[in-house]
Amino acid sequence: MKSKELSFSYEVYENENELRSEELLLLTRARNATDHAYAPYSNFHVGAAAKLANGEIISGSNQENASFPVGICAERVLLSAASAVYPNIPVVSIAITYQSPSGENNGPVAPCGICRQTLHEYEIRNGQSIRLILSGMNGKVYIIPKAGELLPLAFSGENLK
Ligand code: THU
Repeated sequence: MKSKELSFSYEVYENENELRSEELLLLTRARNATDHAYAPYSNFHVGAAAKLANGEIISGSNQENASFPVGICAERVLLSAASAVYPNIPVVSIAITYQSPSGENNGPVAPCGICRQTLHEYEIRNGQSIRLILSGMNGKVYIIPKAGELLPLAFSGENLK
């Protein structure tokens, strides 16, 4: 028997003022996108914005449904839009943020499990790692260099061969 360890590094910024202007712009676009969330059931408004390899920035937000499992997270709305509008253009980075019903928005949240799987597939399909910028409406910012690192030992198309 061998014991193995998996780990990854990420960057922690005290607040948005420490970000590079390009990252701050993407985070601002994600924050604006929280206004377009349709989240009458959870009142948890998530916004995400992606920078594409062609320089375009697109955004997405969570879209809920009275039949709860039908709802879609902001990250998957965003990646579906990216794929539909700009097929084969890699996504380089994504900022994700939220407004919670409690009004406590000052810490980063990370993508849910299904979104991690979707992000991982997007990285593989375009051969481009996606940098994640995670933050609330203010406070600390985490930067994760490669989204797939949030999903160690991931299932992928390789397993279907
Ligand atoms: N949500 C996202 O949009 N992204 C995530 O990564 C986590 C959760 C949404 C789904 C649902 O509309 C609301 O947040 C509460 O779970």
